[in-house]
Amino acid sequence: MNIRVFRTPSDAGIYAASILERVVTSKERPVLGLATGGTVIPLYEAFVNLVRCGLDVSHVTTLNLDEYIGLAPDHPQSYRAFMNEHLFSKVGIPAESTHLPNGIASDLAAECERYNAVIRKNPIDIQILGIGVNGHIGFNEPSHTLITGTHVVNLSAETIKMNARFFQNEEEVPRQAITMGVQSILQAKQIILLAFGEHKAEIIREALKDGIRTDVPASILQLHKDVTVILDEQSASHLDL
Ligand code: PGA
Repeated sequence: MNIRVFRTPSDAGIYAASILERVVTSKERPVLGLATGGTVIPLYEAFVNLVRCGLDVSHVTTLNLDEYIGLAPDHPQSYRAFMNEHLFSKVGIPAESTHLPNGIASDLAAECERYNAVIRKNPIDIQILGIGVNGHIGFNEPSHTLITGTHVVNLSAETIKMNARFFQNEEEVPRQAITMGVQSILQAKQIILLAFGEHKAEIIREALKDGIRTDVPASILQLHKDVTVILDEQSASHLDL
């Protein structure tokens, strides 16, 4: 794994955006696997700046990792709304080229199959990942088993608590989500994992330096041959670099 440590999340975001730019300019039909959460905001800000400076993204396809079950696309806390706010509304990616699971599908099993087919049709060139304080990637939560394909997941108590900061209160946080599975993530040609802040330092150490453990889902990234881990000084503070 290539581990890069930056002074601030903003510096790290600029570096991550430059990696995305290389993918966008080097492929005829680039497919970006995208993530939501506080961590990826500096990356999207830097990427929007690149687009404002002339980077063409009209030929880009995007696939997001996950969506809350029960939130319509226009719900302010849906991940579709997050992507619209932080990226899609600010760059020229055609709406029909941006994909997320549908959190209000009436048949969730069929929706998981539909999303698996979207992933198969659009092999991901680069997957952006954040990491939960419990080690989740996407919403692949710590468990005895990790699921390969897109699936419905019960969010862990820890995830609900962490994500409550985006809602009025903890009660409003959806209890379930649809997430891409770990095999789909590992099939991306390249992966960028971002983590910032002291609260991510210990899980970053466990994910990168211990063995592969299903109770630390991000540790499965140790199996991938092209992962860049982008940290700030705080999240890197438990690593022996
Ligand atoms: P965060 O979430 O970026 O808001 O910390 C990351 C994650 O839960 O994957």
